[in-house]
Amino acid sequence: MAIATRVPLPLPTTLHFKTSLLVLSSTPKNCSTSQGRRRRVVALAATAMADLPRPTVLVTGAGGRTGQIVYKKLKDKADQYAARGLVRTEESKEKIGNADDVFVGDIREAETILPAIQGIDYLIILTSAVPKMKPGFDPTKGGRPEFYFEDGAFPEQVDWIGQKNQIDAAKDAGVKQIVLVGSMGGTNPNHPLNSIGNGNILVWKRKAEQYLADSGVPYTIIRAGGLQDKEGGVRELLVGKDDELLNTETRTIARADVAEVCIQALQYEESKFKAFDLASKPEGTGEPTKDFKALFSQITTRF
Ligand SMILES: NC(=O)c1ccc[n+]([C@@H]2O[C@H](COP(=O)([O-])OP(=O)(O)OC[C@H]3O[C@@H](n4cnc5c(N)ncnc54)[C@H](OP(=O)(O)O)[C@@H]3O)[C@@H](O)[C@H]2O)c1
Repeated sequence: MAIATRVPLPLPTTLHFKTSLLVLSSTPKNCSTSQGRRRRVVALAATAMADLPRPTVLVTGAGGRTGQIVYKKLKDKADQYAARGLVRTEESKEKIGNADDVFVGDIREAETILPAIQGIDYLIILTSAVPKMKPGFDPTKGGRPEFYFEDGAFPEQVDWIGQKNQIDAAKDAGVKQIVLVGSMGGTNPNHPLNSIGNGNILVWKRKAEQYLADSGVPYTIIRAGGLQDKEGGVRELLVGKDDELLNTETRTIARADVAEVCIQALQYEESKFKAFDLASKPEGTGEPTKDFKALFSQITTRF
């Protein structure tokens, strides 16, 4: 009997999908047609997986350094989530694989992001204004480089108007939760980051965070410490409030860990209606964080 007739389609649950794989692995190895059967079952299972009611998650800033990691992690969890990305340019789309689920839009122009947001269940916001270094800086001569923001791409336009546009559109689309990555330092209006390019970046980020917290949509606001391009999953993560972690030695975090927290936040009720600072202990001290429910449960702050 052909295996195809044993696999009920459409398969509505993960359990059925797993069952079909069990059928596959029990196929005798010496059966002359077993390879063909295997291929057919795998194809059927893949079709079935595509039919599963997986929530759709959009990550914006998907071409950015943390956004890329979140997008990839979501793709790696294709049995759990249907991933979507939003990037600003076709070049960024190319950079992350040019898949059909990557949309191009500018968060400053609300109508350009609607196609990406329509029909999503969750939104992860990883867009940010990015300061550029003024030309002519010579590190061999000492001193500090100067930075500027391009016209129209100041934090006010990107971190405030752009995030607000995303929150409004996601709320209209009826999303279940919005995860927003911000930055530590926002409690201090005189924080040095605010003077970069006269952008007041932390002030505008904070305003968007407040807008999200007031939106009525379940939210998770992650205020990251200094971001590092290091391996994730090997450090003990620390959550805090009111920038208290900035007064300690532990105020950095790997982008890969931030990305993981973004995705874990979608899985636990304990992450909702919370805003928190995020950093990590140095590698080799403490226990690498595995229990994210416990991590989110430690947080008591709504803003
Ligand atoms: N750097 C740190 O140490 C630090 C510390 C704490 C928190 N954070 C925050 O953590 C978050 C992630 O940081 P990151 O360094 O991973 O980000 P990043 O690489 O700077 O990425 C930011 C992304 O935003 C996109 N973007 C900017 N303007 C846009 C627009 N108008 N429309 C659509 N997309 C736009 C950029 O796209 P393009 O590439 O096309 O411009 C870029 O992909 C940011 O909010 C950052 O401020 C950073």
